[in-house]
Amino acid sequence: MPMYSLLKNNNTIKMKKTLVLLIQFFALSLFAQDKISVIPFPNVLEEEKGEFQFCNSLTINLDKAFTSELNIISSTFSKTYGIKITTASNAKLVFIQNKQLEKEAYKLRVAPDNIVVDASTSTGCFWALQTLRQMMQVTAGGGYKIKACRIDDKPAYLWRGFLLDEGRNFQGKELVKKMLDQMALLKMNIFHWHLTDDQGWRIEIKKYPLLTKIGAWRDSTYIGWGDSLVYQSTVNGGFYSQADIKEIVAYATKRHITVIPEIDMPGHISSAVAAYPWLGAYNRKIKVPCTYGVKYDILDVSNPKVYQFIEDVLTEIIALFPAKIIHIGGDEVRYDAWRSNNGITALMKAEGLQNYADVQTYFINRISKMIEAKGCRMMGWNEVMGQAVNDFQEGENTTQTLAPKTIVQFWKGDPALYKEALRRGYDLVNSHSHYYLNSSYESAPVEKVYNLTLVPEGIDANLAKHVLGVECAIWGEVTPRVSDVYYYVFPRIAAFAELGWTNADKKNFIRFSRSMDKLTKIWDKEGIIYYDKKSK
Ligand code: ACM
Repeated sequence: MPMYSLLKNNNTIKMKKTLVLLIQFFALSLFAQDKISVIPFPNVLEEEKGEFQFCNSLTINLDKAFTSELNIISSTFSKTYGIKITTASNAKLVFIQNKQLEKEAYKLRVAPDNIVVDASTSTGCFWALQTLRQMMQVTAGGGYKIKACRIDDKPAYLWRGFLLDEGRNFQGKELVKKMLDQMALLKMNIFHWHLTDDQGWRIEIKKYPLLTKIGAWRDSTYIGWGDSLVYQSTVNGGFYSQADIKEIVAYATKRHITVIPEIDMPGHISSAVAAYPWLGAYNRKIKVPCTYGVKYDILDVSNPKVYQFIEDVLTEIIALFPAKIIHIGGDEVRYDAWRSNNGITALMKAEGLQNYADVQTYFINRISKMIEAKGCRMMGWNEVMGQAVNDFQEGENTTQTLAPKTIVQFWKGDPALYKEALRRGYDLVNSHSHYYLNSSYESAPVEKVYNLTLVPEGIDANLAKHVLGVECAIWGEVTPRVSDVYYYVFPRIAAFAELGWTNADKKNFIRFSRSMDKLTKIWDKEGIIYYDKKSK
């Protein structure tokens, strides 16, 4: 393209951008300050005249079905606002069980003299509480008001997830609980806990103590990517005891969040191989890697002892996590170690496997059977479909069929692969890497994330119903400190929350941006330092 036309295009783009900014500015100023701001935005909201006002105490009447919620309702009001909750039969805040509603749905009626919440389950009741929290405004006299309205709300998608990778950098219980609190505020219901990776094994397995004695620690950490050649030379690591895991799972359950554990295999598993070298297809002694990137020490999937190991590990995992879904990773498997392993060659011959993608599918399907026999369902990254989405897979595609009940988490490849997974009847969660939370804010700004289309064009409703929802992921290479997690996750997590909850036709980035103010005030109180382009 000649230079002058580039310039012309640039000028046109600049003018268009200015126009859009001006329109956004005027639209923002048209919104009255006291408009109801809730993220994710409720699917039906009608504002009414008046407001419900109260001071530092509130009477509440909870249907018996929701007794389990009393503590968390009281502590939510007292911790954030210093408001005392007392129960009373003629209360101002009333929660009624309405069995007509779906599991996560709720209705909220705010009138000047009372607030009535309808929900079918304690989950709906809890989500209504989160809406109320965000609707509270401080009055000039130091009390509180909630604008009168009618809300009929339920989520667009079942799966509204957040992934935390602690394989690369261990963060600890305090951060995890903080994240669960923020997920709850945003009505996100799936905490995907990436507990193992090449650089660290983070969960105690009683039968294999070396997994954490050795696998949870590395001698140093390479700083950054590429060839910085700078290492932080301190020992790095940590892990969760089984008691810690139970504590976190209980904390999440109280917030109506399901914890999905991920034990990545057959690749991304050097930390386990460092602990037990016979697990690896090279059967060699290694140290827990101090650098990032996709490593070569993958499982020897021709060794019966490896299957026994996985069976033992999964038995302990399934006993700890009430979720009926176990994530087995399955991503980014470098086949090099299999190519040079006689056992793998013999396995291929015995099972009629034509290439290494077939070996991967054979392994994944065996693990799926194991998981199903324990009453659970397997989930994996989209490599479990057996298509070569990574350069190092050298175009090898599987000739085998992935176990039918697998949940496929789509992170890499074009929409044709996404469509193919749906066409073949797999349930799917959208986590495309172009929207990863560890991306820079230049490459994945909030607006781009907000405008992600969960179901690509050309997919009809019949197939679209297999899209369970959306999950945002923060990978640990960029988060050596808790403050790094906050920086990358906030505020983009709010855009993902709305993607998962609010129907596409109700989304509006201007309204969303205006409402962020409400959330940032809460994050400020919680000590969460979020990315703010103004202060950058
Ligand atoms: C992935 O990012 N390797 C799932």
